[in-house]
This record gives sequence, structure tokens and C-alpha cells, in this order.
Amino acid sequence: MAKLLTIQGGKPLSGRVEVRGAKNLVPKAMVASLLGDEPSVLRNVPEIKDVDIVTALLQAHGVQVEHDRATGSLSMDPAKASKADSAEIDAHAGDSRIPILFCGPLMHRLGEAFIPDLGGCRIGDRPIDFHLEMLRQFGADVQKLPSGIHLSAPASGLRGAKLHLPYPSVGATEQVLLTAVKAEGITELSGAAVEPEIHDLIAILQQMGAIITVQTDRTIRIEGVERLRGYNHLAIPDRNESASWASAALVTQGDIFVQGAMQRDLTAFLNVYRKVGGEFDVHDDGIRFYHSGEALRPLVLETDVHPGYMTDWQQPMVVVLTQAAGVSIVHETVYENRFGFTNVLRQMGANIQLHRECLGSTPCRFGQRNFLHSAVISGPAKLKGTDFDIPDLRGGFSHLIAALAAEGTSRATGLEIINRGYERFTEKLENLGAEFELSRTSQPSFSTTGR
Ligand code: EPU
Repeated sequence: MAKLLTIQGGKPLSGRVEVRGAKNLVPKAMVASLLGDEPSVLRNVPEIKDVDIVTALLQAHGVQVEHDRATGSLSMDPAKASKADSAEIDAHAGDSRIPILFCGPLMHRLGEAFIPDLGGCRIGDRPIDFHLEMLRQFGADVQKLPSGIHLSAPASGLRGAKLHLPYPSVGATEQVLLTAVKAEGITELSGAAVEPEIHDLIAILQQMGAIITVQTDRTIRIEGVERLRGYNHLAIPDRNESASWASAALVTQGDIFVQGAMQRDLTAFLNVYRKVGGEFDVHDDGIRFYHSGEALRPLVLETDVHPGYMTDWQQPMVVVLTQAAGVSIVHETVYENRFGFTNVLRQMGANIQLHRECLGSTPCRFGQRNFLHSAVISGPAKLKGTDFDIPDLRGGFSHLIAALAAEGTSRATGLEIINRGYERFTEKLENLGAEFELSRTSQPSFSTTGR
């Protein structure tokens, strides 16, 4: 029986939530442990599904993993790392995108790697062409099979290379880092992504013994070393979860202290939050986000790679903009298909039109193609409750905060998706005073158009 969340909306969320280690760093830091010849310890680890998936994949490869859930400390010992049984790897096909990052570490360790079909949120095609091209340039042989991808390193080992990314992909940059640190010679990557989570991964690799220089022009230079040690690291807090709760405070006219939110990694978000009329107070241990009581203001917003406004902050902010007095424009330039979630918002009474044109100052990769990647939002709209199936992580969070602000009852299925990136979600909602009930339903999901 599937889980059903029944929400009574219209109540401001107020109180305190804690965010722990970033979903977009922690699983990658776990993969990095495979590169060391000593145990590693990662702290501030949240209880989310991606952590469970990577734990299972590491264990399938002979890594001993111990997760102290109470303290959030995860220890990983790769001493007995070995080839995994393909059935054990296959069990995780379609679950997450992280397995692709096992390529470099496994080739360094075992000479080969097998990667199952990938999963992740349905927000566009999400190809892996950059990853495979980078790995080929390190000298890997890449074979695509019906069940996944088989890669092998040449007998002489992987070699450093001069690489360029046509777009600053976060995952492909991490792929290069996790491969180059132990490849022979020097790797230079231009057009790299420089998100805070990448800097945190670099900090981990440096602790392990890697030599990595990040230049201001998106070039990363890595001098390969023969061996790496273990690491002991406190993961950076999840800035996407922080931004999500901050948006929830505005949408529900509430007041939320996000313990762990870090100003430095949220600069672009906080600028937009202020422009839209949201209030925030920065404290040493977190940030208080709240609605001032004044009408929210519309704005023009474009998502971008770091240091721009992150694509993962877009969906919750769109819900905020449905409540602003006037017309807002949002241009999504990172993923071609990240507005499908607006169908449910329209069903709730929001006024949102989607366009194929680039409605922003920068023409993006999707402009001349058939993608609805710009949104025009007119507010304020009175939202009313509805039934929906959670389509993806950020879109789903957005539906839930819209339902919490809406008049009347909403019912949601597909709650498991939220657990991919928001730990103890319903417990946090309860602490914030949300009115909801969790039950079981024989109906697997509400059919919602526009995934
Ligand atoms: N791209 C390609 N080819 C590739 C790789 C990427 O064309 O081989 C394109 C993608 O299709 C996309 C763009 O490059 O249009 C950026 O993708 P990127 O590789 O940067 O994304 P990712 O590494 O797959 C991570 C986060 C996402 C976050 C993006 C952008 C993880 C596990 N995921 O994805 O997080 O949106 O970076 O910052 O780190 C989320 O948390 O909900 C989420 C989707």
C-alpha cells in the first residue's frame, strides 16, 4: 500500500528545522572514500535515500560501511574493496545518478567498472555524454551494454589529460576530479563547474593527499598522485534544503529558523529573497527566514550555474511568486524540462504560462529548441487544495508547500521521492505546526499530467 499525505492548508509554518550535510555532496564524498587506502569518516550525514543507495553500492564492492544514524557519522573502510556481483549492482539500476561517479575510483582500484542504468529526477534528458567523453580522454575503454556501461583502464593506468567541458556540468566536473587525482600526470579541466559542493569535494580530496588548484576562470588543475589516504570531514550543509524551507516560510506567511543554513553558500538566493520582499536574519548557527506582513513583490529571475541563482531553488521560488503582487518572469537555463510541476500549481489556482522563448537577458541552450523553459507568473493567486502525485524532488517539495498554503484539503502520493533529498520530512513539518495526516492508500498514485 502506498503512503498518502493529507494536508489541511492555510496555516503558517513556524518554528525551527535543522539541515544537515548536502545531498549533492555527501554521496560523492562517500564515493571518494574508494580512492583512499585507509578508512575515511564523513560527519553531518543526513538520513536520505541517496546515502542508502551509495552505502549499498560501496558494500557491494567490499567497502565496510558503518553509519551511526544518531550522530550522523559514517565510516568507510575500503581495505577489502573488490569487484561487485553484477546482480548486486543491478539491484540499484534506475535509483540514482551517483553510480556514474564510481567509474574513475573503481578503474583506479580494480582496473574496471560496471555502471547500471541511472536514475534521478525526471527534469530533462540528463545525458551522460560529457562523463563518458572525459573518461575516454583519460584513456578508458567505454562499452555500452544493454544492462549498463562497462569501462576498463588501460594496463598502464589512466593518464591525465587536457579537458574542456562545453557546459559547466556539476557531475562531469566531479567525474574529472575523482578520476584525475590518481591519474598519471597533470589534468587541466576548463569550463568546470565551481558549485560550493565541488569545493567541498576538493577539500576532501586535498585532505586525502590530492593536489588541486582552482583558478578564477573555471579552470581546475590536478596533479595526479600515486596514493591517497583516508579523510575525516564535516560535510557542508544542504543549501538547497535551506532555500526550500526559506521559500516555505514566505509561501505560508510563516517564520522558520533554518539551523545550519549558511549565508556564504546562499548569496544569490538571499538577494532574490530580499528583492521579493522576504526577510531574513543571519545568525552564527543558521538563518531565520520570515514573511514581513507586507505584500510580496514580483521579479525577473534566471537560473544559472554557480555563482548564479541555482536551478534547484527555482521551483519553490515559483510558488513564492504565485503570491507576489504583479507579473514575474522565470527563465530556466540549466534544465530544459523543469517546469512540468507548474501544472499542479495551475490546478491549485496559480496563474502561470509557459513559453518556448528565452524570456531573460541571456539566450540559453534551449532557446531555439522546442522546450517550455520560461514561465510568466501573475499573482497574487488564491491557492486551493488538490490531489497530486509527487513528480520529482524539488517540484514535489513545491507542490507540498503550495498545498500547505492553500485553502482546503490536498492529498499527495509519491512521498518516497521527497525522502531522496529531505530527511525526516514529515517530522520537520510536524515541528513547524503543519496540519497533516499520513495514511496508506490502495491507489498507487494520483495521475498528474506534466511530469
Ligand atoms: N549535461 C549534459 N551532459 C552530461 C552532463 C550534463 O548535457 O554528460 C547537461 C544536463 O543535461 C543539464 C546540465 O548539463 O542540462 C547541468 O547538469 P549537471 O551535470 O550540472 O547536473 P548533475 O550533476 O546531474 C547536479 C545535482 C542537481 C543539480 C545540478 C545543477 C546532484 C546529485 N545533482 O546534477 O540536483 O540540479 O547538479 O546544479 O548533485 C536536485 O538536487 O534536485 C538536483 C537535481
